[in-house]
Amino acid sequence: MKHILVGTDRVGSNSKRIAVLVQEIYKSLGEDVELIELQDVMKGLAASAQYGNVTNPELKIATEKIEKSDGLIIVCPEYNGSMPGALKYFIDHWRYPEAFDSRPVCLIGLGGMFGGLRPVEHLQQVFGYRNAYIFPQRVFLMNVWNLLKKSDVNPEGRLQDPLLLGLMQKQAQDFRTFVDALKVAKLHASTKSI
Ligand SMILES: Cc1cc2nc3c(=O)[nH]c(=O)nc-3n(C[C@H](O)[C@H](O)[C@H](O)COP(=O)(O)O)c2cc1C
Repeated sequence: MKHILVGTDRVGSNSKRIAVLVQEIYKSLGEDVELIELQDVMKGLAASAQYGNVTNPELKIATEKIEKSDGLIIVCPEYNGSMPGALKYFIDHWRYPEAFDSRPVCLIGLGGMFGGLRPVEHLQQVFGYRNAYIFPQRVFLMNVWNLLKKSDVNPEGRLQDPLLLGLMQKQAQDFRTFVDALKVAKLHASTKSI
């Protein structure tokens, strides 16, 4: 199973709203994809730092899901020119090489005028360094608060921009093919001995 990682623990997060939309897109393509929420994981992270030796239940469940994941889709907002500290702190608790090596990773950024370009590129550095397979099609949601604005005609504030919806649809379709191809070639984390 693939997983969508919500890249922040902020209450009322736009990243969560985008992550739910991405989950719907995968469902429409016939695939169930599970959300991993930093809000849940942070309870475990706040309890104590357990780098590489995770015993806290919330943290353990989440890191084990990542170690078995078919592919990670990370929805990451920009905080102060980078990814949220909570996300990096969570990533720093993953086991290497198990969580990272040969794992396909797909990235969606959101933020102000650069649409989360900086945190996405910082994630590419982190995952590239750790030998993950970074899927090259990235999606950036600029001025995300406008894209998700609630109105009389759009009371839930769903993303409606046809160009962005098309890009997200294409990204999901092609990421599925990318993951399947890595498995066929026995290059995927699940098929390769690290
Ligand atoms: C702590 C914080 C720092 C932010 N820093 C930036 C920034 O450096 N650049 C930017 O474009 N947007 C910045 N933003 C705007 C966020 O990217 C935008 O509000 C986005 O919706 C945040 O994601 P979230 O709703 O999932 O928390 C910041 C928002 C927060 C809460």
